[in-house]
Amino acid sequence: MSNETNNNEGPLAVITGAARGIGAAIAQRLSDAGYAVAIWDYNEEGAAETAAALVAAGRRAVSAKVDVADEKMVEAATQAAVAKFGTPALLVNNAGIRHREPLETLKRSSWDREIATNLTGPMVCTQVMGRLMLAAGKGSIVNIASMSGSYGQAMRGAYTPTKAGIIGLTSLTAVEWGGRGIRCNAISPGMISTPAHVEAYSNEALKTAREAMIPLGRIGDGNDIADVVVFLASDAARYINGANIPVDGGVTKALLALMPVPTANGEIETTLSQLGLR
Ligand SMILES: NC(=O)c1ccc[n+]([C@@H]2O[C@H](COP(=O)([O-])OP(=O)(O)OC[C@H]3O[C@@H](n4cnc5c(N)ncnc54)[C@H](O)[C@@H]3O)[C@@H](O)[C@H]2O)c1
Repeated sequence: MSNETNNNEGPLAVITGAARGIGAAIAQRLSDAGYAVAIWDYNEEGAAETAAALVAAGRRAVSAKVDVADEKMVEAATQAAVAKFGTPALLVNNAGIRHREPLETLKRSSWDREIATNLTGPMVCTQVMGRLMLAAGKGSIVNIASMSGSYGQAMRGAYTPTKAGIIGLTSLTAVEWGGRGIRCNAISPGMISTPAHVEAYSNEALKTAREAMIPLGRIGDGNDIADVVVFLASDAARYINGANIPVDGGVTKALLALMPVPTANGEIETTLSQLGLR
């Protein structure tokens, strides 16, 4: 698929957690690029609304209530989507959750739920969809990881381990299936404004403080991620396999720039803007 086509005749792309946020933006951009999209989410109503908006615009879309860690639901939704739009060319493992808990009191139930959604779910969807792609001899999988998968994010429960895990799953899939026509890559978003972060980004002071840490100077949005998904799924990315691409405005490269430094008058400067870097 080229990311410039808009012929509405492209193959099936399945996007998990696509009722809202980054997943909904990915579904919209893939639909713009000509894919038929299957919008999966355990929020049944939200998934149906996202799909209905696309269908109302003349696009091909279907929705399903799916818990990504439930193999039976994944199998059933796959059969329904394939019956409508044929073999999937693309799977985007986007559904993800996070809890705010410190490690020493992290509840086993929170750990299990996050592992199930963020890691077992992508594995189940990869297996179910991957078997169809392997039979077809082609396909592409994009896993939505996080910068938290490479850098410890304090007080976030199992989030960092699960996102490190999906980066590992990406490497495994790329190596096992690359020779059989299937590429698998990950995207590690930085700070992205979505419904999951309403609290943070409706707080102007917090938003401004976070923006001050990002070399590109702004919080990202869903389309910043969706455009990279379209690229990774396209033939333009034909030699990219097993990559984990940071899409974070450079924030994970800013550590040394954020190192406090003394000024000539003895004060201490701490942020990119104070340092005059943007
Ligand atoms: N927003 C960010 O700053 C950010 C940063 C890095 C990574 N990410 C990752 O991007 C992805 C999307 O995040 P978002 O901010 O859009 O979140 P969001 O909460 O706005 O959307 C996530 C969607 O996933 C669905 N979902 C959750 N568990 C599910 C399950 N078990 N089965 C099916 N659907 C399920 C939710 O109902 C929701 O619609 C997640 O994997 C998240 O970890 C987000």
